[in-house]
Amino acid sequence: MRVLYITSEMAPFAKTGGLADVLGALPAQLQKLGHDVRVFMPAYSRIDRKKYPLSPAPGLEELDLHLGPHRYRIGYATVKQPGTGLTVHLAHCPPLYGREGIYSSDVDEHLRFLALSYAALEACRQSGWAPDIVHCNDWQTGLVPLALKSLYARDPVLGRAKSLLTIHNLMYQGSFPAFTITDTRLQPAAHLFHQDQLRDGRINYLLHGVLYADGITTVSPTYSQEIRTPEHGAGLDHLLRERSSRVVGVLNGVDYAEWSPENDKLIPHKFSAADLGGKEKNKEALLQKLGLPYGAGVPVLGVVSRLVGQKGLDVLLDVAPDLLLRWGFQLTILGSGEGRLEEGFARLQAAFPRQVCFYRGFSNELAHLIEAGADMFVMPSRYEPCGLNQMYSLRYGTVPIVHKTGGLADTVDSTVGVAFDHHDAAGLRWAIETALKLYKDKPTWRRMMLAGMQRDYSWEKQSKVYEQLYERALRV
Ligand code: ADP
Ligand code: GLC
Repeated sequence: MRVLYITSEMAPFAKTGGLADVLGALPAQLQKLGHDVRVFMPAYSRIDRKKYPLSPAPGLEELDLHLGPHRYRIGYATVKQPGTGLTVHLAHCPPLYGREGIYSSDVDEHLRFLALSYAALEACRQSGWAPDIVHCNDWQTGLVPLALKSLYARDPVLGRAKSLLTIHNLMYQGSFPAFTITDTRLQPAAHLFHQDQLRDGRINYLLHGVLYADGITTVSPTYSQEIRTPEHGAGLDHLLRERSSRVVGVLNGVDYAEWSPENDKLIPHKFSAADLGGKEKNKEALLQKLGLPYGAGVPVLGVVSRLVGQKGLDVLLDVAPDLLLRWGFQLTILGSGEGRLEEGFARLQAAFPRQVCFYRGFSNELAHLIEAGADMFVMPSRYEPCGLNQMYSLRYGTVPIVHKTGGLADTVDSTVGVAFDHHDAAGLRWAIETALKLYKDKPTWRRMMLAGMQRDYSWEKQSKVYEQLYERALRV
């Protein structure tokens, strides 16, 4: 099969969260399975050109793209993904991608990802490379299925392609003013847009993906059920129920070449289920790096997260002071995001300078060291489409403490971690105290660590599920 992936993030080039990890692994796996794979992402100026040198894209010429009144010249480049043999295509357009972050709240945000979508589709046409499957990811690519069904329906290269939309997070939908329909190149298909929404003055990109994709996946079985309910459906639940036969939950995989304590290049001491010795040494290294004192037998809790409401860390802030006083554990937090959460963790650190360290920012190295060095990993997410860190934690013998929701419910049970039902202070307090008590019972704790380390959530397995879904999409 020829599979085209379009994505706003991909590891190791540009990452804010798990989307990058998924795209960093899944296409390369499909290529390994023998498929002909192309990935398109923006040539963000923040991609480290020294580490990842760009090359010209053979056979592709600059594209003169008109999106309503806006004109862009889009160049193409390629970059090699280290360790996989995959060549990734980049859409080069400094006016759109030469900004500080990957995402923005600028008025042309929709144009940035429309341009990416068209850059990918037009590149296929230029080179006569006819994809069987166009795998779209999140709202940024939400109009691609509609474009395939209208603008490109009779195109010799794109006309037969089937589209698959993966929803990594239903809460980010890409909703823009209705007048921007002129920017989409899809105005001739205006009757195919959601008419009530247009009348209400909006275009919702993800909604149109849900309406027109040939297949819809989301990133865990439980989340695929949750999004069909009003509580977690973010206004799209009724559409997802209508399209139920096309909605499938596929748990994300883990790239164990990157996230495994036996061969993790970013941690100072390797270890494995057969020899756990290095774990304690990593704990010492972690505490030393963060300027916290090490004490034998003092449990260390870790957090690595975008600091946003979804992750439920405000509840950790509520319960932490009392728990830190009573139990004497240590807490290391890596993350950045909303001011109220950043300030909350900074205040917590100031109040407990020997127990808490908050590292504000993004650091892949520190993320790996926390996974390796912490005893427990806290993810009290209000909702979690899949979540990768709990699966990484399992591999590193770092017992996850999670809210039982979405992918967390699918991956963490009482043999490997602690999961709480009700998302409130009492629930999280119970879970942390339960874990702290278990930690004192060394044989039980060791059993939990080892059970987690033996779990296999590899992409080798999960990529085959996608392979079957692509085959199924081609049959209908
Ligand atoms: P989400 O995609 O919702 O952020 P996931 O658990 O799927 O949640 O993936 C988060 C990914 O981003 C993990 O690889 C995690 O290690 C990484 N990550 C999140 N915040 C940071 C940070 N501040 N520094 C380094 N890595 C981070
Ligand atoms: C989203 C979700 C996260 C998921 C990731 C990759 O960012 O919040 O739960 O693991 O996408 O699919």
